[in-house]
Amino acid sequence: MTEGEFVSFAIYNTMSISPVRRLGRVISEMSKAGVSVSRIGEILDAPCEQDKPDVKALPMDGDIVFDHVSFRYETGPDVLSDVSFTIPAGSSFGILGGTGSGKSSLLTAFALLNPYADGTFTLDGADSSSFSLQQWRRNVAYLPQKPMLMGDSVADTIRLPWTLAGRRADEASAPDDHAATGKKTSARRGRFSRLFRSEQSQAKLALPDQLIRDTLDAMGCEDIDLARAPHDLSGGQAARVSLARTLLTRPAVLLADEVDAGLDDDNADKVASLMASAAAGGMAIVRIRHRPPDGRATRIVTLSSGRLS
Ligand SMILES: Nc1ncnc2c1ncn2[C@@H]1O[C@H](COP(=O)(O)OP(=O)(O)OP(=O)(O)O)[C@@H](O)[C@H]1O
Ligand SMILES: [Mg+2]
Repeated sequence: MTEGEFVSFAIYNTMSISPVRRLGRVISEMSKAGVSVSRIGEILDAPCEQDKPDVKALPMDGDIVFDHVSFRYETGPDVLSDVSFTIPAGSSFGILGGTGSGKSSLLTAFALLNPYADGTFTLDGADSSSFSLQQWRRNVAYLPQKPMLMGDSVADTIRLPWTLAGRRADEASAPDDHAATGKKTSARRGRFSRLFRSEQSQAKLALPDQLIRDTLDAMGCEDIDLARAPHDLSGGQAARVSLARTLLTRPAVLLADEVDAGLDDDNADKVASLMASAAAGGMAIVRIRHRPPDGRATRIVTLSSGRLS
């Protein structure tokens, strides 16, 4: 090998290192993307929850009763053992309890989101089995401990319930072309791409920007622009955006799972005050909290070893 050939070899060798490294990264990202796509496929292919037609007139007041509720997951001990309590409409009920004591499980059970729960739940004296699932959940709103915010902007994410309602109405009036054509996948793709588009103008009429703005401002979120991407929000901001969305749907019952956990005292007080006004307007509110009592709860109970005290 001549000196020139050796220098060329060394230069080409150096030039090839970075692309080969990048190729390695691309291959690893592609395998991650493949797993994600197959998980998305599993979700899209999951069977829809079976529901029945609405059976009672809306809206309801929010007197709620948990009666002899017991609960255990497939594995592990009892999470709740024969828990019963009543929350009158217009009151705010606080639930305390250690980590893993079953607080979130109790709320998801009442929202009929937890298939393992056994017991009776009533709203205004009517058993949950006499409602359709959709109707029950329109009245009983569960605000999860980890906010789930979808959409391109804060305004989109807050309007999601109205956007979905518009989409359901459109689908109900559209002919069922799946059965005729068997083109389930393309129809599904169409539905998803339309999710944040065609029904947005209807949703915007039903929930104007100003109402969203006022609700966020009342929670100390003056700094959140409605055009902001939801995934950029801090934990405390995301929790309040999620609360704003739920409060604006005006449920009869609000099940709030540690909504103020990531807030400073000042913002936690604003949130508590907004929820107190909702309770004064007739909403029944269950608040799971780890913070010291703030004097807003009508009653506070502690969940421990599957029992309330
Ligand atoms: N999907 C599940 N499958 C099996 N066990 C679960 C499941 N979800 C929760 N658990 C278990 O049930 C128990 C109660 O969980 P839960 O989330 O209700 O507690 P928590 O009181 O809300 O706790 P934290 O204060 O940490 O939010 C825990 O021991 C938890 O590990
Ligand atoms: Mg929890």
